[in-house]
Amino acid sequence: MDYESVMKLALERGFYFPSCEVYADAQAGFWEYGPTGVSLKNKFLELWRRELIRRDGMLEIDGSQIMSKSVFEASGHLGNFADPIIKCKKCNSTFRADKTIAEICQIEIPESAELDEFDNAINENNIKCPRCKGDFDKTKNFNMMFKVGIGPEEEEAYLRPETCQSIFVDFPRLFKTMRGKLPLGIAQVGKSFRNEIAPRQSLLRLREFYQAEIEVFCNPNKLDEMDNFSEIENTIIRIQTDEEPVAMTCKEAIESKIVPNKFVAYYLAILTEFYEKTGIDLTKSRFRKLGDKEKAFYAEVAFDFEVETTIGWLELVACNYRSDYDLSSHAKKSKEKFEVMDNDEKVLPHVFEISMGIDRSLYTILEYSLKDDKENDRVVLSLKPYLAPTHVGILSLVKKDGLKEKTDEIYLKIKRKFDAFLDHSGAIGRRYRRLDEIGAPFAITVDHQTLEDETVTLRRRDSMEQERIKISELDSILSDSVAFP
Ligand code: GLY
Repeated sequence: MDYESVMKLALERGFYFPSCEVYADAQAGFWEYGPTGVSLKNKFLELWRRELIRRDGMLEIDGSQIMSKSVFEASGHLGNFADPIIKCKKCNSTFRADKTIAEICQIEIPESAELDEFDNAINENNIKCPRCKGDFDKTKNFNMMFKVGIGPEEEEAYLRPETCQSIFVDFPRLFKTMRGKLPLGIAQVGKSFRNEIAPRQSLLRLREFYQAEIEVFCNPNKLDEMDNFSEIENTIIRIQTDEEPVAMTCKEAIESKIVPNKFVAYYLAILTEFYEKTGIDLTKSRFRKLGDKEKAFYAEVAFDFEVETTIGWLELVACNYRSDYDLSSHAKKSKEKFEVMDNDEKVLPHVFEISMGIDRSLYTILEYSLKDDKENDRVVLSLKPYLAPTHVGILSLVKKDGLKEKTDEIYLKIKRKFDAFLDHSGAIGRRYRRLDEIGAPFAITVDHQTLEDETVTLRRRDSMEQERIKISELDSILSDSVAFP
C-alpha cells in the first residue's frame, strides 16, 4: 500500500508519530516510535544481529552520541559534511540547492558538485524562490552537524552524524583486547544526528535517526582471499550499472568484474540474504553503483542498496569502500598507532562499510507488508511472524461465565515468552481486525467450550482460518511459527 496508508497505520496503531506533537514549536524531522514500532524495531535488529553480526563473528559496541571536535576534524566532517544551500534575497527562505533545481527544472546536480555548478544552473534556467519569486544569493555550504557545548565552559563537541566514528577511534583497543584477526567486522546500532535543511516524509528524512552500521576491517592485499565466499557464490544480487538492474550470482558478478572483489561481493550477498528475510520483495531492489560526484567524501567505491517504494527508490543501506581514509586520518591527528598485524604483515586496515538506515528499512517493510484485503473488508499487515510486534492476541468471547478468568490465566502463562495482547472488550470481529492491522499472526479465543475441554480457537492472520487446538499445544505452535529462521 502507499505512503498515506502506512502513515495512517503508523499514527493510529502506535508505530510512530511526531515528537513533541502537543506543542506548536515542535521541530520537523523528529519522530518517536510507539509500542508497536519499538517491538518491530527490536525484532528487525534481532534479525540483523543473527544474519550479519553473528553469522560473520562480528563485534558489537555501543558508543557515545556526543564526540569531541578532534574526531570530526580528523574524519573530515567539519570540513566536508555540508549541503549546498541557497537563500532568497527577498524573503530569506533557505532551500537545498540541488533539490530545488531538480524540482523546478528536472536537472540532477549531485550534492557534492562545485558550488558554481548550482549558481550556473540557477542563472541559466532563471530559477526563482518558490515562495516569493525573489532572486537567490550565491550557493553556500551548510554544515549538517549539531554542535553542543560541554560543561560551563561550553567546550565544542558534536552529536555524531554517523555512528561509525566511534568504531574507528576504538579500533586499536578493540583489536587488541578482543584478540582481533582480519577481516574483522565491528558493528554498532544507535542514533545519529544531521541538521537536515528539509526534513520530510516522517521516517524517511529525519534529523535524529537510527543507524545500524558495520565496519569491516580488512587487509587490502587480500580482498580476493575470502574463505567463506563459497557460502554465497550462488546468491543472487541485483546490480544496476547502466539503466536496468541485472540479477546475477555473486560468482558472475566477480567474473564480470561488476563487483571489484570477493570481499565486497560477500558482504553484498549477506546483506541481500538479510533483506530477503524481512519480507521486502527483492525483485524491486538494486545495488546502485554511485558515480564519483555522488559518493560521500570518504568513499572510494560505493554501492547504495535501494528498494522501489510507492514514493520512488529509497536508499536503505550505503555500502562504502572507505579504504584507509578513516584510520589514517585518526592516526595522523591522534598520533596513536592504528596498524595491526595480519599474520606476519603489518597493515593499516582498509574498511568496507554497510551503513543501514533503520527507520527507512522499517518504513519499507511496513509498505511491503500492508495489504488492502478488500474481499474480507480489512487491512492486514502481513509481516513475517518473527517481526510481528504482537505474536498472538488472547481474547475472551465474552467476559462473563468465568471466560475472563480463563483467558487471563492463559495470558499469564505465555506473556513472558511471547508478545501477547490481552483483549476482553468489543465485538470479536473488530478485535480480529485490530490484530490484523498490527500484524499479529495469531489470535486465540476462549469460549464456553474452553471451560469444558481445555481447547481454544486459533485464528491465523493471513488465511483467516480457524481451528480448534488444545491449550497445551499453544506453546509449541507459537514457538515453531514465530521463531527466527
Ligand atoms: N557511515 C555512512 C553514513 O552514515 O552514511
